[in-house]
This record gives sequence, C-alpha cells and structure tokens, in this order.
Amino acid sequence: MQLNPLESRGALSIAACNSGKSFAERVITELRRIAKKERDEATYGLKDTQEIVFPNGEVKFVINEFIRGDDFYIIQCIDDPLSERSVNDNLMALVTAIHAAYQSDPDHITAVIPQFPYSRQERRKTREAISAKIVAQLLENVGAQRVLTLDIHAEAIQGFFTYTKLEDMHASGEIVDYLTHKLKLDIKNLVVTGPDVGSAEKARHYSKRIGTSFAIVDKARDYSKPGQIESMRLVGEVKDRDILIVDDMIATGGTLLHAAALLKEKGARDIYVAVSLPFFNGNAVERIEKAYRDGIIKLVVGTDAVFWGEAFVQNTEWYEEVSVAPLFARVIYNVNKKRSVSKLLR
Ligand code: R5P
Repeated sequence: MQLNPLESRGALSIAACNSGKSFAERVITELRRIAKKERDEATYGLKDTQEIVFPNGEVKFVINEFIRGDDFYIIQCIDDPLSERSVNDNLMALVTAIHAAYQSDPDHITAVIPQFPYSRQERRKTREAISAKIVAQLLENVGAQRVLTLDIHAEAIQGFFTYTKLEDMHASGEIVDYLTHKLKLDIKNLVVTGPDVGSAEKARHYSKRIGTSFAIVDKARDYSKPGQIESMRLVGEVKDRDILIVDDMIATGGTLLHAAALLKEKGARDIYVAVSLPFFNGNAVERIEKAYRDGIIKLVVGTDAVFWGEAFVQNTEWYEEVSVAPLFARVIYNVNKKRSVSKLLR
C-alpha cells in the first residue's frame, strides 16, 4: 500500500517480547477492527522476532524482518504472572528489543509497556536510588522515542525523560463503562474512595465520571519494613453505602484489604474494587479470595494490562477483567496517522 507521507508516519509495525505477546495479539485484533471500520487496507500482524535466553540468563532479541523506515511499536508486559521470567528479566528483554529495533533503522520507535516498572521508586527518602529515573533513562538511551503506558504510579516520571515522550493512558473510561453499563451498579448508593491519600485524585476522577460522592482513606506506611502499613483513618461518610475502592495497582493486596476492613468497620455495605494493574504479587490471590469468602470484598475489576489468562478470569468468582487493548490500539493507530490522542488519554 502507498502511504501518504502527510497523513501518517512510516508503516505501522508491531513486535512483542515474549511476555507482551498475548497483549500484542489483542492489540492487533483491535487494530484490524479499526482498519476495517476506517476502510484502511493495511494488514496488521506481529513481526517475526526471537527472544533468546542463554543458559546464564542473558537475553538477546532478534528481529527477523525488515523494519527500515517503519513506525515501530514494541510491546512488553514486564510483570507477567504467567511467566517464570522476573520483572528485571523482562525489562532487560525490552531494552534489548528496543536496541535491536534502533539498529534496524525504523523511523520511529515506541515502547508499549502497560506497566511501567519501578514506578513506585520515583523519589528518595533516605540513601536509596530513584529507580524510576534509571528505567526512564535506560529506555531513552537505547532508542525509545515514545513510551505508552497505563496509569503510571507517579505522573512526575514524565520529567525523567529528556527527549522521549511519555503518554500515560487511563483505564478509568473502560472500567467505568463496565461498572455502569455491564454490571449496572446502583450509583445512587455508591461512594468512591481510594485506599490511601495517593489515590485520592484517582478516586475523585472516578467519582466525577460516575457522578457519586467520595471519601478518603489515609494510610501511613512504615518504610523500614517493605509492604507494611502502620495505620489507617477514614475521612468521609460510608455507613450503609456501597463502596468502590479505586487504585492504580494491587500488589500484595495489603493496602486494599486494610482499607476494606476499615470501611466495613465504619458500616460500609458491598465493597467493589477497580484497579488498572492487578499484579496480585505474593499470596494476594489467596488473601483476596478469603476476603471474598468472608463477605468483605464483593468484586475486583482489573484490566488485561496484567494478563492472568482466560482460565483465571473464568474460574475466579471475585474477578472481572476489562480489556484495555482497544484503547492502546486506538492510541497507536492515531499516533501513526498523526491524529489527536488527547481525548483518549483522559
Ligand atoms: C500505593 O501508593 C499504590 O497506589 C498501591 O496502593 C500499593 O502499591 C499497593 O500495594 P500493596 O497491594 O502491596 O499494598
């Protein structure tokens, strides 16, 4: 197909690291749908690549197809519950993939990382690294000109890049659509809250979008003990109300379960949870399962930005998955066609 240089960048081409493959396939299905709707004759598929892991753990990424002049997107889901590979392994795989792309001379390189690793280490409190900055500089240094991510833990991470553009997308549109249209939550009796002050802005955003009141849970952590919470207080009225707790992520589940227990103690009725990144690290699944059985948590809605596989989604009564692949596909398509993306990023 002949590309009109004024309308688009180079040919839209997509590759994935191993842990990004499932999400990439979903994005490609959506791109095909968009293309069909727009009567665009381009065909989209995953580029032929290899991620080779050596016996000592080193990784090498090879692109087996020509990508010179392309608008190239490399997809990786860095915290992958279905893989043995660690966050660090997957970050290194991404870095080598970006550099392999850089060596192959596309016009533009975008790293598509639904989860931005080390985003909770964006400032220092004592003698410690600002690891989110290391990640930003690493991605930029190997050749990423743009990074697409979802609900990054700290928006200030944008400033850790010098030339690379960071586009932070939000799952709230997809999640609110699910809660109000598919689940048909009774919004008249709903209060939205975040499990800590850091998520208050997100809670306010959800409450405005849904049209409900909101409350704040104030969490104090003991940073000398990773994952430990010191105390929690509630600001707002929740008695006899259904609650929607919103957060960017569930890691160990500690923050969520402490907040849910406090809300129940204050007289809350059903507790729903919405998170963009359901990492469920450690024994979070077992802890949430117990909270569900004990009547503390009614439902957790997460997104496929952390892909748990069809079997988990189907067999887990307390979990519903909303796909953000259509959102990523639309942003990728619009960037490639040099169209506006600002409305999609809200
Ligand atoms: C904290 O600021 C984050 O928004 C999450 O609330 C937190 O990282 C979740 O961690 P965990 O599930 O381990 O308590």
